[in-house]
Amino acid sequence: MNDVNLNPETQTDVSKLEVLISRQQLQERIRELGQTISADYKNKELDLVGVLKGGFIFLADLVRELEIPCRIHFLQASSYQDRKTSSGVVRLSHDLQLSGKHVMVVEDIYDTGLTLQRVFEDLQSQSPASLEICTLLSKKIEGKVPLDVKYTGFEIENRFVIGYGLDYAERYREIPDIVCMD
Ligand code: XMP
Ligand code: MG
Repeated sequence: MNDVNLNPETQTDVSKLEVLISRQQLQERIRELGQTISADYKNKELDLVGVLKGGFIFLADLVRELEIPCRIHFLQASSYQDRKTSSGVVRLSHDLQLSGKHVMVVEDIYDTGLTLQRVFEDLQSQSPASLEICTLLSKKIEGKVPLDVKYTGFEIENRFVIGYGLDYAERYREIPDIVCMD
């Protein structure tokens, strides 16, 4: 962590925030996920699609735990702008071609599910050989868009979390642990 933890614009001292999931817990769970995914996709090549920006650190750590050949792609999804609640409008941007591939979406968090639903439907329309979702976090909230998420790292309470790729208004993605902002 930086020596100066006080962000000049938000005045938040990140060193005082509650750690929800430590870097060690993240490492252990991602190792397990990597082993499970490697076993499930044995003798197959996997096309991983990271959802930017929040999923970039998770994807980078996950692929280093895989023991199968893979290719790495990204798409950009944005819905939150600079707020803590979803705007409900999810914009996607990519030039992926995944027809006939075994595809896995790698996302930071399944909150309302609006983002993952949009990503899933968009990629499904490309007729991949298979399409699964892997999310690091899933929030326990009412009224989520129901989705068949095959791999989940951690179920968390309805808190606003930052760190390990997750942002608030584009800040705090670099924090190595997942911490609560509320
Ligand atoms: P939905 O509601 O579409 O949300 O499932 C998914 C996207 O919203 C962002 N998100 C969060 N970002 N802390 C964050 O930093 C949170 O607690 C949080 N909840 C949702 C995230 O970008 C995700 O892709
Ligand atoms: Mg975000």
